[in-house]
Amino acid sequence: MRMQKRTIEWRDGTVRTIDQSRLPWETAILEMKSCSDVAEAIKTMKIRGAPLLGVAAAFALALTAYHSKRKSRKELVQELEKAAEILRSTRPTGVNLFWAVDRILAKAREFSGSAEALAAFVVEEAKKIADEDAAANHMIGKFGAELIRDGDVILTHCNAGALATVEYGTALGVIRAAWEQGKRIRVIATETRPKLQGARLTTYELKRDGIPVTLITDSMVGYVMYKRLVSKVVVGADRIVKDAVINKIGTFTVAVLAKEHGIPFYVAAPKSTFDLTHNSADVIIEERKPEEVTQIGSLRIAAEGVDALNPAFDITPIEYVTAIICESGILYKKDFDKFK
Ligand code: MRU
Repeated sequence: MRMQKRTIEWRDGTVRTIDQSRLPWETAILEMKSCSDVAEAIKTMKIRGAPLLGVAAAFALALTAYHSKRKSRKELVQELEKAAEILRSTRPTGVNLFWAVDRILAKAREFSGSAEALAAFVVEEAKKIADEDAAANHMIGKFGAELIRDGDVILTHCNAGALATVEYGTALGVIRAAWEQGKRIRVIATETRPKLQGARLTTYELKRDGIPVTLITDSMVGYVMYKRLVSKVVVGADRIVKDAVINKIGTFTVAVLAKEHGIPFYVAAPKSTFDLTHNSADVIIEERKPEEVTQIGSLRIAAEGVDALNPAFDITPIEYVTAIICESGILYKKDFDKFK
């Protein structure tokens, strides 16, 4: 099946997206018609990546509103609030989902008009959130590419690409923009255990675009840095709080190694990922099932019955971050001080 231009699309009461759990083996399109369809796809990581989770949650509310049988505005708002609770219980760490749900609910509560008009409004607001994400990524790419030099080798972790967003990507948006400017760059992608987003998704995206990419296991990061094979690190984020960047498990290790080797560590994220009212201690780090660690797919790789930890994200103190690239520009250390 041909991949659509955007990772997620609204089509008259249906939300279409790529089932990321089946990449790179198969490009399967997932069609969702209800909020619970979307919630299930988020929990099972068919849909993943913080910005995409925000847009998917917005479209889930749009599906609720579009298919609602409620006659009054008040009843529809109550139905949206119930749907919001289902969405909030899917994945706790990435803030974009909460941001999108809160934005739509706040506007729905203030809305004065019929249930029908409110439903149409919610659909339009969700589409607007999707358009804003696409536009933000292109701006992140434009600003971020200024930091990239001809000949750079950029290490990225997890997948912060078109698949994790509506299009273009955040960290991969920076890489794409630099490549489109004609800079001869190369990428090192970490495999990103246990869900292998780097191996399965980042290499898939970059190969499709013809951008040179080399895959390494997570445990090779120290070696490639020691050997001076990396000039910059660019990663995405699931939540940026006052004192830290929260991103895929393994990001902190990459940041510490980058600091040790004097390699710039950049974070690329839209403003919908910023949560500057909280500190890292306030954030729930998602714990996923141990089988994701004790098995690869359905193949057990550990002794039967062994305990395993499986935090999906880690916390990189802001001191390790050289700069944050967002749609408004590049933020440096002096700007982070204003977060506190
Ligand atoms: O568990 P995932 O695959 O949803 O985690 C994704 C990441 O950690 C990404 O780096 C982050 O969401 C940024 S994507 C633009």
